Amino acid sequence: MYLTKEEEKMLDGEYGEGYEKAMRILVVLGDIYGAERMIPISSSQISGISYKSIGDAGLEFLEDFANSGVKVKVTATMNPAGMDLEDWQKMGVSKEFAEKQIRIVNALKRIGVVPIPSCTPYFHGFYPRFGEHVAWAESSAVIFVNSVIGARTNREGGPSALAAAITGRTPYYGLHIPENRYPNVEFKINFEPRGRYEFSLIGYYIGMKMRKGIPFITGLKSATIEELRSMGAGMASSGSIALYHVEKITPEANNVPRPKERIEIEKNDLEEVIQKLNTSDTDIIDLVAFGCPHLNLKEVLDLYAYFKESPPKTKVWICTSSVVKSYLKSKGITDELEKMNVLVLADTCMVVAPLEQVGVHTIGLDSTKAAHYTNSLTNIKVKLAEGGKLI
Ligand code: F3S
Repeated sequence: MYLTKEEEKMLDGEYGEGYEKAMRILVVLGDIYGAERMIPISSSQISGISYKSIGDAGLEFLEDFANSGVKVKVTATMNPAGMDLEDWQKMGVSKEFAEKQIRIVNALKRIGVVPIPSCTPYFHGFYPRFGEHVAWAESSAVIFVNSVIGARTNREGGPSALAAAITGRTPYYGLHIPENRYPNVEFKINFEPRGRYEFSLIGYYIGMKMRKGIPFITGLKSATIEELRSMGAGMASSGSIALYHVEKITPEANNVPRPKERIEIEKNDLEEVIQKLNTSDTDIIDLVAFGCPHLNLKEVLDLYAYFKESPPKTKVWICTSSVVKSYLKSKGITDELEKMNVLVLADTCMVVAPLEQVGVHTIGLDSTKAAHYTNSLTNIKVKLAEGGKLI
């Protein structure tokens, strides 16, 4: 792979061990995918920061980087951690887990990563521009910035996103190349879906049918930004999909060739997703969790308005960013919700938090992505339904 003088210096260790290690990760990755060169990036989003997911080995890896003195060269944000960094005791997380989690976040902070753990950084100021090259890792954020914004990123792993943040570069391959962004299959939606739940089901269905590639979606008359986010998250969990186009809605849809193969989707088809992801055979739910991906301020306020009218019968978690939570706190809304047994959690989510440790056996979810990973990573049973039916 061709490297500039600056990149060679990093690789040769002239700037120290940390930069050398980061550049080596990217060169190996580039060699695997046949990249000819590196390209500069404008931002990075780093996943794999929950102690539940990365354990002691991951903690050590990040602390080694931080101890080497490296600093990020571009804006870098972090994905959700295993707990709310302030209110972890309210979640029932153990002290030992909390201490390790805080060490992970502190290591990333020392490297210069913005300490707002969230999978929707685009909702609070970290919004790449159309055509910009970035290196993001969280699959739901990757598919959002590629599809809805038209920025360019591959689906990075945690270490490669961190290496990209430290060097300010990423290998030029995959979705950074315009021709690789062309769609393979058209999915025609023959009904008018509404709300994040139905869009999440559609996304999951497309991912199930396609597994990998780029779908071109037609038949949608409109979609909100939140619905597009939820559709992408579903698609990225059932298939390894990192980009979709929606006719007349997403920014690149007009400039790509239309695929020849077409699959039609009827509303009834979504039953297949519900059958697959619903694993609970009881109506007793320990916890209903919203916010996969993290909800924005508008969505949390909508839930707040709903709960004021009809308080929930079950314990509820709402997962969001610390930016949203601090606004709610300043207005006294988090306290009001807590009195209704609704906990607003920042920095974390129902998938990366140690739910089994905190005694959850059955969980109610309105997100196919959360249902998918709860089923595959835990023994917790899932009740998947539209939010209003869960509470
Ligand atoms: Fe975000 Fe956690 Fe879902 S990281 S996309 S809320 S699994």
